[in-house]
Amino acid sequence: MNLKDEILKLKDELDVTLVAHFYQRDEVFELADITGDSLELARKAKETASKYVVFCGVGFMGESVKVLSPEKTVLMPKIACCAMARMIDEGYYEQNLKIINEAGISNDDILPITYINSSAAVKAKVGEMGGMVCTSSNAYKIIEKGLESGKKIFFVPDRCLGQNFAKSLNLKSAVVGDGSDLKEADIICYNGFCSVHQLFTTEDVEFYREKYPDILIAVHPECDPAICDMADFVGSTSQLIKYIKELPLDQKVAVGTEYNMVNRLREKNTFILSSTKPECPTMNETTLEDVYKTLKSIKDNNISEETLIKVDENTIKWARVALERMLEV
Ligand code: 13P
Ligand code: SF4
Repeated sequence: MNLKDEILKLKDELDVTLVAHFYQRDEVFELADITGDSLELARKAKETASKYVVFCGVGFMGESVKVLSPEKTVLMPKIACCAMARMIDEGYYEQNLKIINEAGISNDDILPITYINSSAAVKAKVGEMGGMVCTSSNAYKIIEKGLESGKKIFFVPDRCLGQNFAKSLNLKSAVVGDGSDLKEADIICYNGFCSVHQLFTTEDVEFYREKYPDILIAVHPECDPAICDMADFVGSTSQLIKYIKELPLDQKVAVGTEYNMVNRLREKNTFILSSTKPECPTMNETTLEDVYKTLKSIKDNNISEETLIKVDENTIKWARVALERMLEV
């Protein structure tokens, strides 16, 4: 039997749900029971009745499932950490708050919102301060909701997402530490970013528009504001897929997000908006063999500590508050 068949057989035998993000390798992605963008994965994995969740994605995604469903055993065949999520920890979060306070803004005047691409520990900090989580598909709604508090938003860790949504809401943004006036801003952004989405440049957009004057440009909001400003559509991974699938077959579109996902949409006149292959190294780490070994370890009652997602009780308590505030909105 080949690995794929072995995995399918194990999946039938075990009380397990296999989850995969769109950026996973094709051979892993096609075996998943649940696929989606970060919001859909958090929701659907919470709703599944199975005891075991095997999550193919990056660390913060598996942690979010554990936080929302602590009773489930959550396993990640490769616990690979999103490079952006790694740019912030509790220490950096506190350091940024201190800089904001030194600019004359007290914690009572701030509502923190963290992009879901952050550790459970950072989500817990945000939850404790009355804040919530957002994803690329609901950031607009969540920021609008946050602004109802009359406070400034402290947005972590993705500077681009914060700046892009500030622009679309006609708000002023500033980035901690880059010399901009924090007091003037409605949204104060932490200076984090996604190195994969930073690969897309204004030159890439110009190149495609010159080559195919009718081409559409569709990008993820983790791209720099200069790229999002030039795009015809900005959306989460699921929103991008929906947008591209609904286009007429002869409509060309250049897409600014991770390679594996765009490559799967190739038949639809779809181009990758980059001269450099935009692969997310950590999303690409999980192999079929890793998935097989993880499922086999469940069957053999021999789960490796390395694959097990653990979050302490206090972190679960506050990270869950932040995630559930988002799900309620
Ligand atoms: P989505 O929530 O749009 O799937 O994005 C996740 C991500 O990590 C994009 O880089
Ligand atoms: Fe993180 Fe960027 Fe990879 Fe998304 S593409 S998982 S933000 S490093």
